[in-house]
Amino acid sequence: MYTSILNRIRSTADSDQWIPLFSTKLSKEVLERALQLFGEDEVSTRGRNRLWFEEELTSFAGFQHGLALNSGTSALQLALRILGVEESSLVLMPSLSYMATANAAIYLGAEPVFIDVEENLPLLSVEKLESFLRLECAKHEEGCFHIRSKKKVSAIVPVHLLGEIPNLEAFYHLGKEWKIPILEDQAQGIGAKVDQKIDHRNSIFSFNGNKLLKAGGGGAFLSSDADLITKARHLASTARARGEDYLYDEIG
Ligand SMILES: Cc1ncc(COP(=O)(O)O)c(C=O)c1O
Repeated sequence: MYTSILNRIRSTADSDQWIPLFSTKLSKEVLERALQLFGEDEVSTRGRNRLWFEEELTSFAGFQHGLALNSGTSALQLALRILGVEESSLVLMPSLSYMATANAAIYLGAEPVFIDVEENLPLLSVEKLESFLRLECAKHEEGCFHIRSKKKVSAIVPVHLLGEIPNLEAFYHLGKEWKIPILEDQAQGIGAKVDQKIDHRNSIFSFNGNKLLKAGGGGAFLSSDADLITKARHLASTARARGEDYLYDEIG
């Protein structure tokens, strides 16, 4: 399986030359813009430039609402929390991904459940996920429960891996049927073009040093649901109470 995946990736490169993973090539325009931003005294977690970046990113990625964060991992953790992942629940994800996908669930006290990937693609298998749900889970009014452990299935995380896009339509359809929120781990997938028609999407992105769009470090949570992003923005501000400087109304 690995050989066929590697060959597929190699076939997309223009030459046989080694492509370094972490190197950074900054164009003159990018350097000039960076210097300009430093000059504006707004290299900060707040401010106009952050909002500008969020707007550009959101529209580029085809979403309606977005929040910039400090890493893909914290975007995963925050988004899963906002989507309702709680302690002792189960988060379904592909058996092949970067470790951060599983870590984010574990940080919330949830348990990652690894579902097989497609035979020749590094992507969560729709068929395997569906048979896990049909054979091992049951539908309840409050959502989906794993029969043997009695634990709630609180999220499904399809991952965009190594340039491949998961079958999103199928996952969002299953999520709706089983009342399970879907969060796409699109850390590696900025620029992916999704032709399928999906009403509501939630995705996280990473801008660390080996990503397609890099900022040294950084991440984002994008969604078509304004409420989710408002809640995420609140928690990301350490849950600062409205209009107050050093009062907090929950653990952010
Ligand atoms: C699939 C996947 N998920 C999550 C992450 C975590 O992103 P970050 O390194 O920005 O925390 C990465 C990248 O490192 C990744 O490749």
